[in-house]
This record gives sequence, structure tokens and C-alpha cells, in this order.
Amino acid sequence: MSTNGSDFIVVANRLPVDLERMEDGTQRWKHSPGGLVTALEPFLRSRSGAWVGWPGIADAEVEAFEEEGLRLHPVGLSAAEVRDYYEGFSNGTLWPLYHDVVAPPVFDRSWWESYVKVNRRFADACASIAAKGATVWVQDYQLQLVPQLLREQRPDLRIGFFLHIPFPPVELFMQLPWRTEIIRGLLGADLVGFHRPGGAQNFLWLARRLVGLEPSRGAVGVRTRPGVVQVGDRTVRVGAFPISIDAAGLDAIARSRETQARAKQIREELGNPRRIMLGVDRLDYTKGIDVRLHALHELLAEERITAEDTVMVQLATPSRERVEHYKQMRGEIEQVVGRINGEFSRVGHPAVHYLHQSVDRRELCAFMSAADVMVVTPVRDGMNLVCKEYVACRYDLGGALVLSEFAGAASELTSAFLVNPHDLDGVKNSLYAALTVDPAEGRRRMRALRRQVLTHDVDRWARSFLEALGSASPN
Ligand code: ADP
Ligand code: G6P
Repeated sequence: MSTNGSDFIVVANRLPVDLERMEDGTQRWKHSPGGLVTALEPFLRSRSGAWVGWPGIADAEVEAFEEEGLRLHPVGLSAAEVRDYYEGFSNGTLWPLYHDVVAPPVFDRSWWESYVKVNRRFADACASIAAKGATVWVQDYQLQLVPQLLREQRPDLRIGFFLHIPFPPVELFMQLPWRTEIIRGLLGADLVGFHRPGGAQNFLWLARRLVGLEPSRGAVGVRTRPGVVQVGDRTVRVGAFPISIDAAGLDAIARSRETQARAKQIREELGNPRRIMLGVDRLDYTKGIDVRLHALHELLAEERITAEDTVMVQLATPSRERVEHYKQMRGEIEQVVGRINGEFSRVGHPAVHYLHQSVDRRELCAFMSAADVMVVTPVRDGMNLVCKEYVACRYDLGGALVLSEFAGAASELTSAFLVNPHDLDGVKNSLYAALTVDPAEGRRRMRALRRQVLTHDVDRWARSFLEALGSASPN
């Protein structure tokens, strides 16, 4: 145990920055992908905490270092661990299982062994840097055994866990050969948090069924009325805490003259179409990128819209590129993009602009400011931050949001054009309705969306979680 270690530690699979090896052998740090980092980084910087995580490439030997007030503690993974723990168990087993089995999960015993080993390494890293009585906040599905492993070594710590992805229906979770180990791992925390009350409820049911505990039976509320379960002499709380974004920060970027000028320029570069539709996602099969492309294809084929009038921009961050489902999906999406462009583009005027790239935050804000319709159609998503980012950028009350009912955010953003992504006609009709919405009605909807997003930002999420964790009984 460290005598003057850190008092507040976030532990996540990834550090907020990713190491990149260049072809000439040099290395550089770049911003890590995904919603977890987007949400937690601004909050943690404001608290000057420590962050324990993987630097993003195999076999990297990196010492702990400071970065703009954050203390970063790298945890190394070998190439075999990247394959078995990260690409394998985390993203070939848990990710599809927790996202409603939209792709078949693979159950592989050697992947599980690697998951246990790497979780132990993360727990050891936290145990060695945490000050006495420190708070450790464990993040996401890659590290579900860490709460228990850490508690065994350091019963003095206050341990929170938050799951950034959906927690599945119990019937699906029960497929997992290591289901009891995962539930016991999470029960090592003082507070286990999910985005939605349903996830908390599922977890409480499993604690009864798999571990034989007696959880509370009342309904869990949003940020209120957590469930409770007694584990020996400890009380574990189980609650719902919908995550959000740095809404004021994005609002400020969107309002700046530079962003507005860039938004105008983007529209010009796209050939000044009457309407711009935008999709922004990691290239992931849960995001329903194919759904929106099929809907666009049919709208064009039926001449309800034309490619001169309406263009689509899809920004897709490369993600998990060696995992089989991801490779396959990328091929499929690029084929549909090619097909739409082949049928409907004119020289110099593609119907779909597809960028398999990540853009920086300011550029993203400019795209969102330029977009008349933001299309967010996941078949399952724990929360989805992109839709909240769009709303935060639209201080002008312009633009329309088409949002899947299967994103956690749908229960908060009820003034969006909500769609069932499995209903292609429904998606087409909602896209069309959003493209042609009466301006007054569009403003009314956006005003309601902004009221929600600006008052429920990431700071409120983190505070509500940490307050609930603070009130967890000390050991
Ligand atoms: P997930 O965490 O599953 O990737 P979220 O919607 O919760 O999904 O968060 C994604 C984050 O990544 C958002 O902050 C979004 O702006 C960012 N992002 C996604 N795609 C891109 C892209 N092509 N360029 C820049 N940022 C992106
Ligand atoms: C989602 C997950 C995060 C993950 C991110 C990016 O947001 O909830 O835990 O970090 O996707 O995925 P990656 O596999 O690149 O870390």
C-alpha cells in the first residue's frame, strides 16, 4: 500500500490517450476513442485524479506520467492478452452478449483465463497506488472482476463500479459459462451503477439467483432509490445513473465564430445541398449504420428525396479492426455506400460522404452545426453520447434528431424523432419527417431536448454517482 498514493483513482481498460507507433519507429499519444473517455476525461481533469489503464498497443513499456494535471498509470498487455482478453473475451464475448446478442458471442475458455489474469493485474496496479481509504472508480465490462480482486487486497478502499454498456436481460446473461464469477466480481464494489434502472434490476435478480443473496425488492429509480444487497457484513448499493457529456463545453465551441465559419464552409464543400444528414459513430455493428444507409437508399430509389437535394455524411471511427464481426461489418457498410453512390451520385457530388476516420472535437462540432438531421440508429446502445452532443451543439435550435428507441438516451430525449431500427419503413418515414419538419415544430423539439441535455451534464452524472458511493457504508 502506498503511504502518499492517490486519493481518487479511475481505472478503465484504456487510458484517455492512446499510444501510436509511427512507421518511422517514433511514437505519439493521441486521444482515445469512445464514449467512456469522452465522458470521464473532463471530469477527472477537474479533480486532478489518477487514471489506471492500458496505453492501447501491445507490449508497450511506459512509466507513469503526468498529463495536464492527470496522473496516468499505464498497465501493459502482451500481444496474446490483447488477442484473448481485449479482442477475445471483452469484445468477442461480453460486448455482443451484453448488446442483446446482435452478433453471436463466442465462449472460449482460454479467453476467460486471460480476462481473469488481466483483471488481476489492473487490481494489483490500483492496490499499489491507492492511498489509505481512497476512492477507486472501476469502469466498464472489461474490468468486472476488479472490484472483488481489489477488495481482497485493500478492504480499506471505497470502490465504485460503473457499466457503460447495457446490462443484458437475465435470460441472455445466463448463457455465460462464467456468470457467477462476474456477479461475484461486481459485488466487490460498494456501489454498482448502470445507465438504466432495468440493468440494476437485472443485476439484483442475478445476485439472488446465482449467489443466493437477498436483495431489496423495491423498484430502482433514476439517481434515486438504489437497490441494496447485503454481502456478509457489507452493504452493496445498486443504482441507475444515466451518463452524459460536457454540454456547456460543446455549446461554447458550437457558438464560436470559428465553428460557425467552418460549418458554413462544410456546407459549401458538400455543394450547398438543401439538407445534410449526418451519422457519427465508432464503426461498430451495434450502431445501426447499415440501417440508416438502407433507409437512405430506399428514399432515393423512391424519389422521396434526391441526391442533389440531400446528402449524407457518415463519419466512422475505426474500431476493433481485428475482431471478425467488425471486419465483416466494415465490408458490408462499404459495399452499401458504394452501391448508393454508384446509383445516385453525379461526378463531384456523391450522395454519401463516408469517412473511415476520426475527426477532432472542433471539427465534429462544426459538422454537427452544419447537419440538418442527425441520424443515430443503434440496434442497442447503453446510452449513446453522439445524440447528446448534437443537441448541445444546436444553440440555434436548428436541426432535427432521429434517435433509436434502443439507445439508453431515448428515455431522456423523448422530443427526438424516435425510431425502431428494426422497422425500415418506420426509419424511412421518420427520416423524411425530420428532413421536412416545420421550422417552428423543429425549434420546439430542440428546445425541449436542450433543456434536458444542458441540465443533465456529465458533472451531474459523476457527482450523483460519487455522492451515492460516499454514502455507502465504510468498512
Ligand atoms: P461508444 O462509446 O459506443 O463509442 P458513444 O456515442 O457513447 O458511443 O460515444 C462515442 C464518442 O466518440 C462520442 O464522443 C463521439 O463524438 C465520438 N466519435 C465517434 N465517432 C467519431 C468520429 N468519427 N470522429 C470523432 N469523434 C467520434
Ligand atoms: C465503448 C466502451 C468503452 C470503450 C469504447 C471504445 O464506449 O464502453 O469501454 O473504451 O467503446 O472502444 P475500444 O475497444 O476502442 O476501447
